[in-house]
Amino acid sequence: MCGIIAYLGKKDAYQIILNGLKRLEYRGYDSAGIAILKDNLISIKKEVGKVNELGVNGLQGDIGVGHTRWATHGKPSKENAHPHHNKEESIALVHNGIIENYSLLKKKLVEKGYTFYSETDTEVLTKLVDYHWKKAGDLEQGIKNAIHEIVGAYGVVIINKDEEKLYAIRKGSPLVLGIGSIDGDNGAGKEFFVASDPAAFLDHTKRVLYLEDNDFVVIDRNNFELKNICDGHERCVNRDVTDIKWDLSKIEKNGFDHFMLKEIFEQPETIKQCLAGRIDKEKWVPKLSLDSSLSDNFLKSLDRVIITACGTSWHAALVGKFLIEKYCRIPVEVEVASEFRYKNPIFGEKDLFIVVSQSGETADTLAALKEAKQKGAKTFGFVNVVGSTISREVDSGIYIHAGPEISVASTKAFTGQVTSLIMFTINLGLVRGEVSLDKCKVMLKKLEGLPNLISEVLECNGVIKNIAEKLIGKKSCFFLGRSINVSTALEGSLKMKEISYIHSEAFPAAEMKHGPIALLEEGFPVINIIPKNDPIYEKILSNVEEVSSRGAMVINIANVGDSEIDNKSNYVIKVPEVDDFLQPIVFSVALQLLSYYTALGNGCDIDMPKNLAKSVTVE
Ligand code: M6R
Repeated sequence: MCGIIAYLGKKDAYQIILNGLKRLEYRGYDSAGIAILKDNLISIKKEVGKVNELGVNGLQGDIGVGHTRWATHGKPSKENAHPHHNKEESIALVHNGIIENYSLLKKKLVEKGYTFYSETDTEVLTKLVDYHWKKAGDLEQGIKNAIHEIVGAYGVVIINKDEEKLYAIRKGSPLVLGIGSIDGDNGAGKEFFVASDPAAFLDHTKRVLYLEDNDFVVIDRNNFELKNICDGHERCVNRDVTDIKWDLSKIEKNGFDHFMLKEIFEQPETIKQCLAGRIDKEKWVPKLSLDSSLSDNFLKSLDRVIITACGTSWHAALVGKFLIEKYCRIPVEVEVASEFRYKNPIFGEKDLFIVVSQSGETADTLAALKEAKQKGAKTFGFVNVVGSTISREVDSGIYIHAGPEISVASTKAFTGQVTSLIMFTINLGLVRGEVSLDKCKVMLKKLEGLPNLISEVLECNGVIKNIAEKLIGKKSCFFLGRSINVSTALEGSLKMKEISYIHSEAFPAAEMKHGPIALLEEGFPVINIIPKNDPIYEKILSNVEEVSSRGAMVINIANVGDSEIDNKSNYVIKVPEVDDFLQPIVFSVALQLLSYYTALGNGCDIDMPKNLAKSVTVE
């Protein structure tokens, strides 16, 4: 989704912003632009396509703003790309989010004589700021008045040709302030960055301050002033400046051809990080340090768990439902956040509302969370990005510690989410007396062995690569699973369609005969997930027979030691046999590789698939 990076310091702003935009490319975008201020003149460069189109020889100056745009209002074009400007080009503005009442505002501005060169809501915001600025005679006041009129989500940065300042304001769309120090030829001093993601400036500083909703920061060469403005009231606020713990190597490819492949191979390590310090190895019980709001008494009293999320995180939520219902005997409802938020949901005192999100910024998930909080629900989050909006909004939660996930297709975040959900389930089951201490010990020991099991799956890389060749050029495929692995099938199918552009659907295997089987024809690929120890293993084999006898190309993901499966497969990938709660992780790693190599063979842009964004911060 859109990305923002702004700079104020003593260095070459164009180069810093250009590099920052490249670090934001993973979020997905279709055009880019940079505005640089020098000698009371703002110069703007914009291009459709990749950031590289902007060219390395840029504009001179040490203050500027840059943007990568993912089209919402109006097609990808130079006119629609950001930064946007007023008629005199005395202000330039970049914006992430959506201004919902932009048509109404545009109409009002047209009546006041404003003309528009683009189809965007952002140009409307720019002209609205211009209008209020001229009316109030002061840009800061003009921005506040404009913000007061808009409905929607925004992360905005503005520069003015006559001031050596950055103005930044956010609501519902992330912005982070980076604070660096310069000790160079141009003299010592401070430099400031504002970005939608700290990855954009991490090679310059790790000192960050995360802006919260309605925060408005004005930055000059020496300092910054932070206020929170809400409903016409404003107050000065202090927020913690923290240090980012990860470094640039985490957001570079380290010799892998794609971030996705690197992130798949990182999983033994990320699972270790996720488990680190969370198991008491003397007593063999979970050590989750849950917030006091989730006391044992509250957990014992729970009547219902509701989980909401989007995309891959929703698949992790479905795994969570299976786990909590099976091991804790609590009914769990799972719903995609975009639907949940408009359902006028009902909450009781004995409900726990859980959100799952890699980015912690997904607009639909955040809106569902806010709806739940407003209705008094107790909230809990499984989030990857530390300091993200969702991580700050929930009453309590668990970070999954997968590190920065750059590839648009989520891999290590999914396995981290499921691992965290397993820990949460074991803890909940233990507190409620549904999981005995012995069972808990066995489960935790098995969980500890997970990184090695994933390494074993990664050793199948060569086999999977060869099998993926059979999928290259196919138009359609199905993924089938049963029990907990219906979710695994859904996740495998999403991965395949996202990055290889092969149409793909997932079904509970036994559903095939109720309709989808009509689509099978000679050579149609059907990928089956077949755990040998499943109580209904034989029934799964019957499902495989059904598709096989209709000419499907049967690719089975089965277990090492399962020889029965060999003559029921056109191709087979064998992964270690594990208990049901670990299966979605172990099978998913194989499916991630299968999608990766198919996409590679199909010549797709794996890390930045067309039309997709890493973090979906608009509705
Ligand atoms: O950051 P989130 O986990 O909230 O994102 C949710 C989905 O947008 C995300 O999982 C999406 O489906 C990925 N592209 C999946 O690979």
